[in-house]
Amino acid sequence: MRRIEYKTDAQLASMAAAGVITSRALDAAVDAARAGVSTLDLDQAFRQVLDEHQAASNFLGYYDYPAAICASVNEEVVHGIPGERVLQDGDMISIDGGAIVTDAYGKKWHGDSARTALIGNVSDARRELSEITRAALWHGIAAAASARKVGEIGLAVEEFVRAETGDKYGIIEDFVGHGIGSQMHMAPDVLNYAARDLGPRLKKGMALAIEPMIVAGSIETTTLDDGWTVVTDDGKDACQWEHSVAFHSEGIWVLTAEDGGASELSKLGVTVKPIPS
Ligand code: MF3
Ligand code: CO
Repeated sequence: MRRIEYKTDAQLASMAAAGVITSRALDAAVDAARAGVSTLDLDQAFRQVLDEHQAASNFLGYYDYPAAICASVNEEVVHGIPGERVLQDGDMISIDGGAIVTDAYGKKWHGDSARTALIGNVSDARRELSEITRAALWHGIAAAASARKVGEIGLAVEEFVRAETGDKYGIIEDFVGHGIGSQMHMAPDVLNYAARDLGPRLKKGMALAIEPMIVAGSIETTTLDDGWTVVTDDGKDACQWEHSVAFHSEGIWVLTAEDGGASELSKLGVTVKPIPS
């Protein structure tokens, strides 16, 4: 499906329900992320919240993916499979997850979001990498609020990273954000870096998952033999933060933040508007 799906405000409101559940499940997974805990434990914590809300996982079974979250530790960029690996003091872990809710018409709506957790005594380098990635995401979302084209999001992400830290970090190009709605991955691609082609017009009714992946070294990556886990070729750290964002009739709303992104975006001079009901 290469056509962009345009949603009504009511459909975006259903997506907001999926987004809030995604956010609460991520809260639980991040809270559980401590030294001595396995990545499978985080998957359990996440699933429990989905169960409590009678929501389904969109990751589980996606091309046979075996879990409800991706748990990507240190040099793992994305799509780390939860398992026996036990978190150590000083690790950083990106936790990516999503939820599906079904609306009154039986249509399914997806949420998708990722956060990075720092385990115990983390180096300043790891702390900075997470903070830059998180801030880059919010700068991309802020740009989206007034962007004419989808590519202005990646432009803002890259401009922020370069202005703050020059060429110190790489921005992954092998994986990109995406449209989201009645499926998790839909058109259009949402690049998290600057590209000449700014892509399609950003229009009301769209929902986009914005998900910058930033690395401490080279942007070259390899997928491991498990068929999923993506690692940096140079073994240096990688980090990801992600939100799903709605472009509704009256403005933008961050679907996977309980406050719609109000607190973070107000610092950047952007006002979010609740989805009209
Ligand atoms: N949520 C990831 C993304 O941000 C995709 C995960 S696919 C899965 O687009 F199969 F690993 F779940
Ligand atoms: Co995504």
